Amino acid sequence: MRNNIHIGILAAMPEEIGKTLENLKNTIKVEFGDLTIYSGEWNGVEVSEKIKINLSIAWSGWGKVSAARATTRLLSSNLLNSPIDLLIFTGVAGAVNSKLNQWDIVIPSGVIQHDMDARPLFERYVIPALNQKKLMPKRKLINWARKAIQQATENFDLKLFGKVSTGIIATGDSFISDKLLLKNLSINIPDLDAVEMEGAAFAQVAIQENIDWIIIRTISDSADEEAANSFSEFVRIYENSSFKLIEILIRSLKRDLLNINKSLE
Ligand code: ADE
Repeated sequence: MRNNIHIGILAAMPEEIGKTLENLKNTIKVEFGDLTIYSGEWNGVEVSEKIKINLSIAWSGWGKVSAARATTRLLSSNLLNSPIDLLIFTGVAGAVNSKLNQWDIVIPSGVIQHDMDARPLFERYVIPALNQKKLMPKRKLINWARKAIQQATENFDLKLFGKVSTGIIATGDSFISDKLLLKNLSINIPDLDAVEMEGAAFAQVAIQENIDWIIIRTISDSADEEAANSFSEFVRIYENSSFKLIEILIRSLKRDLLNINKSLE
């Protein structure tokens, strides 16, 4: 049985990765134009099983193209000479659901590219390459992340963070700071919980490349007229806490979450 796993972690901005790089050892840095990927061994607190965890980490920049490019590079660069077993995209999001507040965590059960529109050839939001509107991570990955975060909250290991929920996130190449726009979006995508600018592009690449993936977002603003201010202020503070969320996930990783049991050493 393999005794190591390789996790890819992406975020749009360095603030969303925070101190994670300080918890790697034997780190290598690989540059592809303006994209830098850091790869190394997890050197943080113990993980739940005796397993070596390799991490490859990058910030993609904002938007769908940057997210897709970074995901593709991360997957195709054969870093640490081992394939990526799981991809995680983490960062902040604007709330659409009025029950969500700053610091609440949303694990999307589905992500939609809200600016994809190939009508009349395809229904609105359908991604032609996948013939699918809503991209969904595996249920067992959602359950794992939710449980790990929930437990950490109960143990006061995730200070500042609020409640954790699953929901629908819409991704598009716009920073949304307009209540009217938001209202139209929620009419077209019922049950919409939050918006961001990378998740569904990242998910599309992961699905097309047949790699397990999950997205974890923390609410930074309400995607209304105050959004730019709330977002900027929030990200400055979030920088000191984003690692905590990543740490909780890494610490609770288990072999049977990933498809590595059957692999030979
Ligand atoms: N990410 C965080 N807040 C956002 C917003 N209001 N619109 C799009 N992406 C975001």
